[in-house]
Amino acid sequence: MTSFSLIDFPIIGDERGSLIALETQSIIPFDVKRIYYIFDTKPGVSRGFHAHRNLKQVMVCVSGKCRILLDDGKSKVNLWLDSPSKALLIEGLIWREMHDFSPDCVLVVMASEHYDESDYIRNYSDFEGIVHG
Ligand code: TYD
Repeated sequence: MTSFSLIDFPIIGDERGSLIALETQSIIPFDVKRIYYIFDTKPGVSRGFHAHRNLKQVMVCVSGKCRILLDDGKSKVNLWLDSPSKALLIEGLIWREMHDFSPDCVLVVMASEHYDESDYIRNYSDFEGIVHG
């Protein structure tokens, strides 16, 4: 599975604490056109359950944690986003689900395009057909 990778955001730390600065190209490998964040997720709720045709995204939990399931149609990978410096880049045709949100989780997502419902694949059978077809 090659369409995702983890990015270690560099932390600028001093005696006062920590700061992370994100710039396009050097750290975020695309021009960010949209930012959204998911927070106050209710207990037991999972989100996502879709893939994108063209969108690139970087996601990071700036507070709390959640578990991300990534599926390229052949294999599934689970990983935890549990640090403000641990980000996930998703570039390809990947089914993604978000689970096990902690109550304090704030999941920030930076995206390469504006919101476009036609870029979504929300049906898993459709996703399998596109991946294997
Ligand atoms: P949804 O796709 O269900 O979120 P998730 O996949 O994270 O579970 O989106 C919820 C609603 O928010 C849906 O009506 C579409 C809307 N939305 C926007 O208007 N703009 C956006 O950038 C996003 C991500 C969602």
